[in-house]
Amino acid sequence: MHKIKTAVLISGRGSNMMAILKATQNNDYPAKLNIVISNKPSAEGLKKAEEFGIKTVVLDHKAYKNRHKFEKDLDAHLRASKIQIVCCAGFMRILSPWFVKRWEGKLLNIHPSLLPKYKGLNTHKRAIESGDTIHGCSVHFINSELDSGKIVLQKSIEILSDDTPQSLSERLLIKELEAYPQALKKIANELIYSK
Ligand code: GRF
Repeated sequence: MHKIKTAVLISGRGSNMMAILKATQNNDYPAKLNIVISNKPSAEGLKKAEEFGIKTVVLDHKAYKNRHKFEKDLDAHLRASKIQIVCCAGFMRILSPWFVKRWEGKLLNIHPSLLPKYKGLNTHKRAIESGDTIHGCSVHFINSELDSGKIVLQKSIEILSDDTPQSLSERLLIKELEAYPQALKKIANELIYSK
């Protein structure tokens, strides 16, 4: 079976990356995880990926003179591994229009809100403070505006009366870990069948 070569970009814990990794171990899954790239040398997710024999690369953004040089290197690593889909998963760098254009239609992100609500940070706190009863996560394409690209898949949960941002984020993470592998499967299949 032809599998879509995939990269996951992380900055931290890497639980979404692990959910994708586990999904890719299924023979019928249409994508393969070829490389995990972190902009933070200390990202916990790096070790987890290595334990599963996945290639990891650290591109410490602080070591680069500017964003473009960092992104040129990131792009070069992705192309060297012949990557077809890039999944940002807790990747805490904003990507420039130059990079986004180069990976248009192949660049996904997971955001912990029901977009278009609560773009940016502190989504759980903002949902609780707005009195929302439903919260969720969105897997979406990245375009040149923050958290604004086409939505691939959303999952929602109820906000309970005693929820804190912490408890809400913990419950939502369970949904995120289902959502990202499902969304990647959908996009990878689309790519396979469009050929
Ligand atoms: C997730 O909640 C994701 O929605 C947000 O950052 C978190 C990353 O967690 N953008 P992890 O690194 O995948 O564990």
